[in-house]
Amino acid sequence: MSIYAISDLHLANSDNCKALIELSHFDDDWLILAGDIGETEEHLRFALSVLTQKFKKIVWTPGNHDLWTYRFNKSMLKGENKYQRLVSICHKYGVTTPEDEYPVYSDKELLYIVIPILTLYDYSFRPDFVKEGTEVEWASESGVICADEDLLIPEPYSSIKDWCRARCSYTEQRLASIDKSIPKIMINHYPLLKELGKIYTYPRFSIWCGTTLTEKWLDLFNVKIAVYGHLHIRSSKIVNGIKHEEVSFGYPNQWDHSKDMQYYLRKIV
Ligand SMILES: [Fe+2]
Ligand SMILES: [Fe+2]
Repeated sequence: MSIYAISDLHLANSDNCKALIELSHFDDDWLILAGDIGETEEHLRFALSVLTQKFKKIVWTPGNHDLWTYRFNKSMLKGENKYQRLVSICHKYGVTTPEDEYPVYSDKELLYIVIPILTLYDYSFRPDFVKEGTEVEWASESGVICADEDLLIPEPYSSIKDWCRARCSYTEQRLASIDKSIPKIMINHYPLLKELGKIYTYPRFSIWCGTTLTEKWLDLFNVKIAVYGHLHIRSSKIVNGIKHEEVSFGYPNQWDHSKDMQYYLRKIV
């Protein structure tokens, strides 16, 4: 029994949908989905209807795209309400979300608690010389602006930063109540360390890539493997003895169409 991971399926793209349908079966294995399945409830339903037929267990956390709201679509939920709707869709498919009891993976001598989290970002992945509150202005000076600024509506919170803080506080309380001696696999759409939130071609995009509030959790809660996406730059790095896996599939121009989706599944355990 293995655990695989992938993120950023971006199913608004028909080539990505086709690759998903053609994915092989892994009937004994778990799959981690680390966000950005798509933008709509239909994208999530489609992904889960396919993947729950192919894997034994699915563990999900949303990405920024999953939480977007198109303002022209009056029926589309916003912010926390949209998140809760996505959680309820996951529950219909028996999929584990950041709101559920954390599943335990146990195989031979291996034991992990698998922890999906939603923590968003608070612009704290900014360089030290950028003053708090001026991050978006600073990034846009270089022509970089994340579509979240228009499409990620943080209701009922007054800002994404406040939503992020609330999520971190909720997550930290839950983590504090778990047995620290058991190793953890932590799943977030975002990297858990500031140093991993850098995109060298668009360095100022880092402000939309996580929060420094998660950094201390790695040691504090005995995290051995951190799984994330969002950057669309696949990597596997070890930092201070902890493995950090960026598992993005990405937009159609970011994967090799002569390979199938299976090639991009990362074996985590
Ligand atoms: Fe993405
Ligand atoms: Fe993302």
